[in-house]
Amino acid sequence: MHPSNPSLAARLRAAGCVYAEDEARLLVENARDAAHLERMAADRVSGTPIEYVLGYALFRSERIVVAPGVFVPRLRTEALVRAALPRLTPGDVVVEMCCGSAPVATALAREISGVIVHAADVDPVAIAVARTNLTGLGEVHAGDLFDALPRELRGRVDLLVANAPYVPSAHIALMPREAREHEHETALDGGPDGTRLQRAVAEGASGWLSPGGALLLETSATLADRTEAVVVDAGFRAHARAFRDLDAVVVEGVLRRTS
Ligand SMILES: C[S@@+](CC[C@H](N)C(=O)[O-])C[C@H]1O[C@@H](n2cnc3c(N)ncnc32)[C@H](O)[C@@H]1O
Repeated sequence: MHPSNPSLAARLRAAGCVYAEDEARLLVENARDAAHLERMAADRVSGTPIEYVLGYALFRSERIVVAPGVFVPRLRTEALVRAALPRLTPGDVVVEMCCGSAPVATALAREISGVIVHAADVDPVAIAVARTNLTGLGEVHAGDLFDALPRELRGRVDLLVANAPYVPSAHIALMPREAREHEHETALDGGPDGTRLQRAVAEGASGWLSPGGALLLETSATLADRTEAVVVDAGFRAHARAFRDLDAVVVEGVLRRTS
């Protein structure tokens, strides 16, 4: 099979794939044999997102394993990694809450040696995939938000990062078809104004953070002021930081001293 496969690219283009040549090359590179290539091509033509067809997404230029239904890591979420890196030193404890496939936790574990990495999610499929990505790098816990975390982490988390669902419920219908039809609604739905999960994460975080610990929440430019207010209400000094090249906003919060 030649890596540039014009007839496959034409087939993908006819099915509406915008990056048909790139995708044709990826399918050819990842196919075990001709039958596998045909199965992958048929799946992609029928509208399955390319990441589910390939079984991985690229994040920080490295592979993150994904599976159907699990939120596909977005490029913009690399902003959480960029915001986290300067805050972490070896021995620090970092938690990715609402981890999905755990792209942020995996990138941090890969990029900083000696950080202690935990991740948590409520979706069993996401948890299985996160465990694959974090094999030998960190622990993955199952459960509703902070219920998932082992008690011994209370007061010991130096950095809590989350790309919690933040799409306002009424906006889910306006999302691209690939997200609406292929990603679980629990991975997208942020409640009536988008901040329901962000608020729960921010309010829960204070009991788990170490003194001086920090919280990083991904949000959108539209929601940034509301997310910042949610984090301030939860007892943090907070500011929204834009990463314009990634079209991303991260709200950074540091616990206010109580005494
Ligand atoms: C937007 S996705 C982000 C996944 C991953 N952090 C990423 O950026 O690719 C949100 C994730 O939150 C999880 N989630 C939703 N509600 C949750 C809850 N109550 N407790 C834990 N995780 C939850 C979903 O299962 C989903 O994996």
